[in-house]
Amino acid sequence: MNEADTEIISGLLENFGYSSTNDPAIADIVLINSCSVREKAKQRAINKLKQYNSLKKKNKQVKIGLVGCVAQQHANEVQTQIPDIDILLGPDSYRKLTDILISDDKKAINNILSKTEMYDNLQSIPQNTYYGYIPIMRGCNNFCTYCIVPYTRGRERSLSFHNIVKHAKQLVASNRKELILLGQNVNSYSFQDKRFPDVLKAISEIEKIKRIRFTSPHPKDLDERTIQIIAQNTNICNHIHLPLQSGSSKILKAMNRTYTQSDYLHLVDLIKKHIPTIAITTDIITGFPGETDTDFQETLKIMEYVKYDNAFTFKYSPRPGTKAAEMPDTVSENTKSDRLNEMITLQKKHTLYRNNELKNTTQEVFIESNSKKNINHKIGRTETNKLVIIKKGTPKIGEFINVKIIDAAGVSLFGEIE
Ligand code: 5AD
Ligand code: SF4
Repeated sequence: MNEADTEIISGLLENFGYSSTNDPAIADIVLINSCSVREKAKQRAINKLKQYNSLKKKNKQVKIGLVGCVAQQHANEVQTQIPDIDILLGPDSYRKLTDILISDDKKAINNILSKTEMYDNLQSIPQNTYYGYIPIMRGCNNFCTYCIVPYTRGRERSLSFHNIVKHAKQLVASNRKELILLGQNVNSYSFQDKRFPDVLKAISEIEKIKRIRFTSPHPKDLDERTIQIIAQNTNICNHIHLPLQSGSSKILKAMNRTYTQSDYLHLVDLIKKHIPTIAITTDIITGFPGETDTDFQETLKIMEYVKYDNAFTFKYSPRPGTKAAEMPDTVSENTKSDRLNEMITLQKKHTLYRNNELKNTTQEVFIESNSKKNINHKIGRTETNKLVIIKKGTPKIGEFINVKIIDAAGVSLFGEIE
């Protein structure tokens, strides 16, 4: 979502005659887009900001700013640390950027959340030649007790159905092969009588769209109709990112996830029944307050059952203002690290297991780039979102091609053109 927001901000700036540069030393404006979902990400954003703020020593005119969730939640802290910061805008305030573009003396500082802002009449500037993002909904109403997002991105709201289809057609006309529908809770999309499966279906019917992805769905809102639509439409990718967070029903309850271990497993079974070859990936947190070893074993049990294609695993990071931050942090840092390592080791095994399943199969691969390690190799992606290093054959970047998978190692597959 931050990448999509950066594209919106680029659009706003281009509208005012700016263009982008990779060299901060010659920039008129430097913006850091930030995430506050974990403490580490927040610290990294603030450190980068300090680093770029020192550009002012050589260039008094340069404007330095922070946008995104850290700007939303920690505006005072950032201003105390960097008093001469020029821009500090939360996720619903990007239009305020124009204040500083109109008048040179002004600062652009705002973190008022909106109930309606979808940035829908702005021209975003896609950063990638082949992919196009469509933020179909913004905000989150779920209030998982560990999560800062409902506080930094406000309440759920959805882009009009008409504008989604319009945006999708524009992206296809500009040669985007793959569209990615975005939302903090993408499958709670709701606009008049249209729901998430209606969006998927309508987009899949647009001509020339080769691949459609979406992220991230909440298990509680993933209904059978959505699964059927994925199964029936070949251009909707056979990949679901299905955040688990914990395998223990006790911890899921404390997290306010509103599903139990057994609800989650039924959902996985239902998905696999409709689409046996689907790739399932997930997010898991360990070390949530009250997580005992027995709870953690439940998480490992679910990982073992599902054998995810990939998993993003995290140590719980208390976020100020959330409900969980008030719960006693019962899990020591050492235990959190040990559990995280155990999950990483298990996941590596499962990733390899899933990748090995593809050995000797033929996969349609979208060629994305040259390999940095070997100029004769190209890198592509399967519809299940796995990277393939193509060792034999000379496909062109931007084309879809059938590739025979000859080997698997870690997260990568190796293939040759048949
Ligand atoms: N601590 C650790 N991980 C978190 N996530 C969200 N909030 C926290 C937190 N406080 C993780 C969840 C989510 C992903 C984007 O980040 O797993 O799905
Ligand atoms: Fe955060 Fe996702 Fe839960 Fe919303 S659904 S509160 S974004 S973890």
